[in-house]
Amino acid sequence: MCGIVGYIGHRDAYPIIIKGLQRLEYRGYDSAGVALYDGNSINLSKTKGKVDDLKSKSESTISLKGSLGIGHTRWATHGVPNDVNSHPHLSNSGELVIIHNGIIENYDSIKKELIKRGYTFHSDTDTEVLVNLIEEVKNQEGVKLGKAVQIALNQVVGAYAIAVFDVKKPDEIVVAKLGSPLAIGIGQDEFFIASDASPFIEFTNNAMYLEDEEMAIIRLGKEIKLRKIKDDSVVYPNIKELQLNIEEIEKGGYDHFMLKEIYEQPRAILDTYRGRLLADKGLIKMAGVDENIEKFLNANRIIIVACGTSWHAGLVAEYIFEDLARIPVEVEYASEFRYRNPVITDKDVLIAISQSGETADTLAAIKLAKEKGAFVFGVCNVVGSSISRETDAGAYTHAGPEIGVASTKAFTTQITVLTLIALKLAKEKGVFSQSKYHEFLTELENIPSKVEKVLLSNALVEQVAAVYKDATNCLYLGRGYNFPVALEGALKLKEISYIHAEGYPAAEMKHGPIALIDEHMPVFVIATKKGHYEKVVSNIQEIKSRKGKIIAIVTEGDEMVRDLADHVIEVPETFESLTPLLTTIPLQLLSYHIALMRGCNVDQPRNLAKSVTVE
Ligand code: F6R
Repeated sequence: MCGIVGYIGHRDAYPIIIKGLQRLEYRGYDSAGVALYDGNSINLSKTKGKVDDLKSKSESTISLKGSLGIGHTRWATHGVPNDVNSHPHLSNSGELVIIHNGIIENYDSIKKELIKRGYTFHSDTDTEVLVNLIEEVKNQEGVKLGKAVQIALNQVVGAYAIAVFDVKKPDEIVVAKLGSPLAIGIGQDEFFIASDASPFIEFTNNAMYLEDEEMAIIRLGKEIKLRKIKDDSVVYPNIKELQLNIEEIEKGGYDHFMLKEIYEQPRAILDTYRGRLLADKGLIKMAGVDENIEKFLNANRIIIVACGTSWHAGLVAEYIFEDLARIPVEVEYASEFRYRNPVITDKDVLIAISQSGETADTLAAIKLAKEKGAFVFGVCNVVGSSISRETDAGAYTHAGPEIGVASTKAFTTQITVLTLIALKLAKEKGVFSQSKYHEFLTELENIPSKVEKVLLSNALVEQVAAVYKDATNCLYLGRGYNFPVALEGALKLKEISYIHAEGYPAAEMKHGPIALIDEHMPVFVIATKKGHYEKVVSNIQEIKSRKGKIIAIVTEGDEMVRDLADHVIEVPETFESLTPLLTTIPLQLLSYHIALMRGCNVDQPRNLAKSVTVE
């Protein structure tokens, strides 16, 4: 987690760094800092709080001059969020300054050794240990900064994306990466460094991403020098032209990124299948699947690994793959899978789902599966992300940047990609007739307009939110394809409005959670016409007889549930396997409005970060 930004060139570094940090706040926002070199010395400003707090503090306390600088927005790992623990960190001599995203696991033993050698520490961070280790190496070995960084990194265990400069050599920044992302933007006589390309996209489209265990010496007027950290071998820069544009990463008139991203879903789903789904020709074209079709068709089973919302998309995919393509699927939390010594063979296909493509546990699960010989396929949103590079093949979701911390369009586009894959395999396996296949493809093409229709219920959802905004607990129930939607609805509410919520398969209610139901308990039930409708109606009756409040998501025109529920929100009719793409939308809107009414920070909920790059 944490966002890092750096600049070296001919412009003022400060505004670039501040704006860049604001764009990276999705990665962490409990404290922030900036270090600028003004031609003589380093001006450092750090504060607990958001980048706006940093802006106020630095603009009233330090000189903002200089065309070399680094900045950081933090999600605390070592040490509480306070001014002192914020990055950047200076070495004891005050000559080296560093920003770091990641964790140095053996920092304690290094710190003890450095203390023995006379170093003092002001913060509780692992990062301050690292910058002093670099300084110690530089002094003891009499080497330049780049070499000192390399030697020091060979002594540390952990994960990092770092940028460091030396006040005595202010024409260069040294960067390195292992496990956390680091992009370098290449302009005309200027370089940008950031956790993703958003901080520099208005200045340059030319960028490169460091691979794990690589470092770079970025020197003004020179080519970037890339090296492998371990063996010092030379790496040739792979500079790409980025497709991202600035509008995609701004709010575009919406009050919050989350709302913008909820409303982007019709377009995002369409972009996900655009060029892949050719309904008129009865075709699905996906290069990553087409080129590896035998691996999928001969697989003993598909294992899906993911975390959080992406794991919920994986659960929906389990229903889709088994139901439509008749392929056995297991869905695992990446964090559990990686540590439980799972049985994996070269006949398994592992699908890793990740919006950011940087989630540490998912990456580790991928590496494990690859070691054991499985074919690994990635479903990612962020182009060029670590997971997209680590997997054998993959399919991007093309949702566009998702900046709100609560995942919305990533979920629906992940389901869209996974549905395309399942349909393709169903067809290849001969499970589907051409006409059934064709019907599905046509219905998938109708989904964006049906999502548009669901979005029209926003005002109604807002009214429902006003009724339940003060609830302390909520239950979410669904069955079959909509059980994962219940889990996702509950997660959305928890993470942005801090209301305790649980998702359950509706029938499981009787096995415990029903004890919670009384007149104060709102129960959100997904009760669409297909998918065990009558059974869900019985579950609703059970809640009603215990005086629970029922808010039901139903199929347009439903009468039976309308008579039973306190509130109903309609979604258009579609195939059962496609209902999650519709039923999830009102639940996203609901959590958005409740969070807003409770005065919560919708885009930056407490304690969270968008990319979880620590395990
Ligand atoms: C919830 C949310 C998280 C992520 C999870 C995985 O709204 O955003 O639960 O889904 O951290 O992240 P990715 O998909 O980037 O691997």
